Amino acid sequence: MQIKLNHVTADYQLGSVRSPRVLQDVSLQIAPGTFTAVVGSTGAGKSSLLKVLNGLLLPKSGWAEIGDIKINSKTSRKSLKAVRKIVGMVFQFPESQLFAETVEQDISFGPLNFGASREAAHDLAIKMIRRVGLDESILQQSPFSLSGGQKRRVAIAGVLAQGPEVLALDEPTAGLDPSGKRELLSLLKQWNKSKRLTVILVTHDMETAARYADDAVVMDRGKVVYHGSVRSLFADSEKLNRWQLDVPEARRFQLKFEAVSGIRLPNVCLTEEELAAALIEVGRV
Ligand SMILES: Nc1ncnc2c1ncn2[C@@H]1O[C@H](COP(=O)(O)OP(=O)(O)OP(=O)(O)O)[C@@H](O)[C@H]1O
Ligand SMILES: [Mg+2]
Repeated sequence: MQIKLNHVTADYQLGSVRSPRVLQDVSLQIAPGTFTAVVGSTGAGKSSLLKVLNGLLLPKSGWAEIGDIKINSKTSRKSLKAVRKIVGMVFQFPESQLFAETVEQDISFGPLNFGASREAAHDLAIKMIRRVGLDESILQQSPFSLSGGQKRRVAIAGVLAQGPEVLALDEPTAGLDPSGKRELLSLLKQWNKSKRLTVILVTHDMETAARYADDAVVMDRGKVVYHGSVRSLFADSEKLNRWQLDVPEARRFQLKFEAVSGIRLPNVCLTEEELAAALIEVGRV
């Protein structure tokens, strides 16, 4: 499922006035099966970009294309419904959207709404709860009786149950403890690789971008200023500085090591595993 944005500008209606443009002439193509991190400072337009992909914010000019569905300022509700089925959206703190009496009802809501039978929705709920790493006994519990991390997984299971081809997530690990964070990101990576789910992840955490994403989109004041591999982004300290992005720890160590020792490591290291391998290769450990 190819995603394409063509010269998209967007703004918000604020009562009777329009906000300044929050997306400015954004052109972008995201290939199916990729894992893309969307990064950039606060207010840069990352969440607004996701909303365009999901049809929640319509372009004021330009258009977006999700597969063969085109979204522009005049797109009908029917097309938007189709887009929302293809692009599953996980908002920041998605657990705040849980509403049903049981976890199962929550997960089944989307599929039933899209016309699945009760039986199919039940089977799907079991499959999805397992997919997010929870036991199916949780299906009969109230979503409100769960821990923060469990609630987040239930919310994601609900989005997955709608069978999206693209999963767009806005800061999905905010507020999770380190192991909850690692588990969720590993699941995303696993779905991305084994099910060819396209993942678009908004994050402020460069360690996450470096470890899990293949590509990065950098936004700055409503514009896409970089779209390319995560490795080339983190190779370029000058760019990171300009866009106020942190340097991942392993890369920071590498730069320091190279400056002090005068030895260049064979490649740009994004994780401690890569750093350890590179140090072994140059015979320093
Ligand atoms: N619902 C809204 N109504 C009006 N203006 C909005 C709305 N949502 C966002 N904006 C404005 O749009 C701009 C971009 O916001 P957006 O939420 O897309 O940024 P962001 O990159 O996701 O920031 P953050 O990292 O803080 O989440 C900001 O100037 C913001 O004030
Ligand atoms: Mg945001």
